[in-house]
Amino acid sequence: MRVPPELPPALVDYLRQSRVALAIARADDDNHLLMVNDRFCTLTGYEPEDVVGRNCRMLQHKAPNVEPRARLREFLGNPRADSVRTPIVNFRKDGTPFVNLLYMSRLRTIEGATHFIFASQFDVSRSQPELLADYDAELQRTLGRLTPIAGDAGIVVEGTLLTIANSAATVAQAKMMLAGLEIDHRA
Ligand SMILES: Cc1cc2nc3c(=O)[nH]c(=O)nc-3n(C[C@H](O)[C@H](O)[C@H](O)COP(=O)(O)O)c2cc1C
Repeated sequence: MRVPPELPPALVDYLRQSRVALAIARADDDNHLLMVNDRFCTLTGYEPEDVVGRNCRMLQHKAPNVEPRARLREFLGNPRADSVRTPIVNFRKDGTPFVNLLYMSRLRTIEGATHFIFASQFDVSRSQPELLADYDAELQRTLGRLTPIAGDAGIVVEGTLLTIANSAATVAQAKMMLAGLEIDHRA
């Protein structure tokens, strides 16, 4: 399998200081994580050394997540798909469940090959509609500023952020899911 180049340092520096949780994985080799930022560590309770080199599905523990995983696999398997967004059940390092609103998009070379996958995570189950809207705006800003930085390194940021049409309903649904998970978690 072809080995992608290293992540450009300017890109890493920029992503590290982002105010949204994010992770970058290789597009090949079972999508091993190349980097996660501080916000990702705060959200999940994991340190970079716990997760880098592993697939992020480790956050799912034993949750079946049948539908969201199928959507994520479909995105990863379809080079023409630019981005995907789905809630998915995850667990922090200490075992606390949460509903992660996961966004993923592609970082391609000018020639069109996907080398890296960009992802951002958000605990929508312990949020409020306004906070979800703030997160969306911040993720949008991160992607917007990423575009010229990545461009300097010959990388094209694919995918637009489809903002959540109804933040209140999304948060309410996630809270209901979390309530169910917490009951299972305590059992
Ligand atoms: C960069 C990147 C970040 C990801 N972050 C998460 C995450 O935070 N939580 C999660 O459950 N899955 C995450 N995934 C998705 C899983 O790695 C995997 O693609 C998904 O579970 C579907 O594949 P599977 O059914 O083989 O596990 C991420 C994937 C990539 C490429």
